[in-house]
Amino acid sequence: MSHQILLLHGPNLNLLGTREPGVYGRQTLAEIDELVQGEARSLGAQVRSLQSNHEGALIDAIHQAREWADGLVINPGAFSHYSIALRDAIAAAALPAVEVHLSNVHAREEFRRHSVIAPVCAGQIAGFGPFSYALGLRALVRHLQQQAEP
Ligand code: DQA
Repeated sequence: MSHQILLLHGPNLNLLGTREPGVYGRQTLAEIDELVQGEARSLGAQVRSLQSNHEGALIDAIHQAREWADGLVINPGAFSHYSIALRDAIAAAALPAVEVHLSNVHAREEFRRHSVIAPVCAGQIAGFGPFSYALGLRALVRHLQQQAEP
């Protein structure tokens, strides 16, 4: 069965490639999306991706995903740490979600250690650069398969 997945990238991730390369690496968002598409092919999943710097646009995409998606991979960027609205949207959509981060948020500033999104997700993957996304997709597809088992 082919799973339909929404991949969401939050604020400032459009700047990847040049944004704080010491922290986030040199790969662009387009390159990360390509990596995810390759992973999706090998898993037999279909991924639609969206980046926005706007909380409301991310929330709208999650609401719309109720109509077509089986699950969600999301890097909420800084919204991870304070957006109750994004958290509520994920909870309301009731779609399994995996939170991913390029950097190891637990090894950085104190304020990055707390995620308001994590409690409404199946799990969180952080610290593996672009590979966090591939791992997140893999984990989500596995989670969906297990849910479908009788
Ligand atoms: C990030 C970590 C966040 O703390 C930060 O605000 C980001 C990127 C990551 O992928 O490592 O924008 O989500």
